[in-house]
Amino acid sequence: MSNTRTKPNSFSDVPAAPVDPMFVLKKEYDQDAYPLKVDLGAGVLRDQQGACYELAVVKEAKRQLEELHLSHDYRPTTGNEAFRKNAARLMFGDQCETIKAGRIASIQTVAGTGACRIGAVFLKKYWSSTSSSTPPSVHIGTPTWGNYHPLFKHAGFETSIETYPYLDTSQDIDLDSVLTALNSAPDRSIFVFQGCCHNPTGRDYSMSQWTQIAEAMQAKGHFAFFDTAYQGLGHSAPEDAWAVRHFTERNIDILVCQSFSKNAGLYSERVGALHVLCATPSIANNVLDQLRSLMRWEVSSAPAYGAELANILMSNPALQARWQTELGTIRQGIASLRKEFHRQMTEYFKTPSPRTGTVDGWDHILKENGLFSWTGLTAAQTRSLIDKHHVYLPGNGRINVSGLNATNITRVAEAFNDVIKSSM
Ligand SMILES: Cc1ncc(COP(=O)(O)O)c(C=O)c1O
Repeated sequence: MSNTRTKPNSFSDVPAAPVDPMFVLKKEYDQDAYPLKVDLGAGVLRDQQGACYELAVVKEAKRQLEELHLSHDYRPTTGNEAFRKNAARLMFGDQCETIKAGRIASIQTVAGTGACRIGAVFLKKYWSSTSSSTPPSVHIGTPTWGNYHPLFKHAGFETSIETYPYLDTSQDIDLDSVLTALNSAPDRSIFVFQGCCHNPTGRDYSMSQWTQIAEAMQAKGHFAFFDTAYQGLGHSAPEDAWAVRHFTERNIDILVCQSFSKNAGLYSERVGALHVLCATPSIANNVLDQLRSLMRWEVSSAPAYGAELANILMSNPALQARWQTELGTIRQGIASLRKEFHRQMTEYFKTPSPRTGTVDGWDHILKENGLFSWTGLTAAQTRSLIDKHHVYLPGNGRINVSGLNATNITRVAEAFNDVIKSSM
């Protein structure tokens, strides 16, 4: 019998997906055989050799976990219970009255991105605006993390994502612009905030700015969607959670996406948590139940290994102290790299900042928190850094400061100096 059927064409209209610039950059870096290449791309904490930094305290937690010989059985859908409680305490504080009152619904998630995903889907289903015909809009300060737009779109906020600038031309916080966005958005809008160590700019609000933002949020009944992916990498863990704790004390409607990818260096283990603040313990029970369902439908149950490790760090007081001390040392290392890079650009090479055209335009490096510096390099300048100098960074000019080290910092500064001066 002859086969008259043609090839299946069911997916013939599927277009290629949007390019992921970070993935492309990493691939290009990996394929570069030049021995002195430098990776300032992905937000991964690097050691002196440029490799992914493994925290000493995590090595110890791995050793302890190994001895427990845990099984590979499925874990509860909402994740590891001790981990969930300890993660909430790390974020909201040991003495948090809202936790004690049972008003925070917490689940383990597939890292920070998984928390953002479940959080966005939950809000799409359950957060409503004042008008039944207009769904709530999502407001994001720019520049921002590239994943928010597609993530909120994918959660169903198709047409209702708005942006506002949160920095001025000299890279300082533009509070007027933020307050205008808050005051002019429809009541009960959703505002996405990064709790600390902003990606990509490294510029965070001060306590007094957060307080003014909280007041405006409260007056308008807005919802604060906090994404805290770098707690402990800007300042101490409690300081980096200051805004979250302040909003919680004021009883503003919030949820918090928490990641252990960066502060415990557990990138590939996908460890995170989602916390939703609720008005009463019984509401929190229902919210937790809904989150359980969303997790069940999306991933069935959260992965075990990384959460066990993070839980060892949080539940053993000696290790918790070692972890926080190690994070302090990491912060100091990043601060020294910032100082040295700034010195090289301003005193040694005397390079004009691409943003201001003046040498003092590099001062932002010293004001930024966390891993990133927002250099102001143009896409063409970043391309020349890659092509001519084998220094890899995304086209938006963001660098991972921890990718600098004693061996490469002068070469990178020299490369910056070259591409900036030759494009003037
Ligand atoms: C602002 C921000 N949010 C969330 C994440 C998510 O990180 P992960 O899913 O690896 O925990 C990142 C990672 O780069 C980030 O920069």
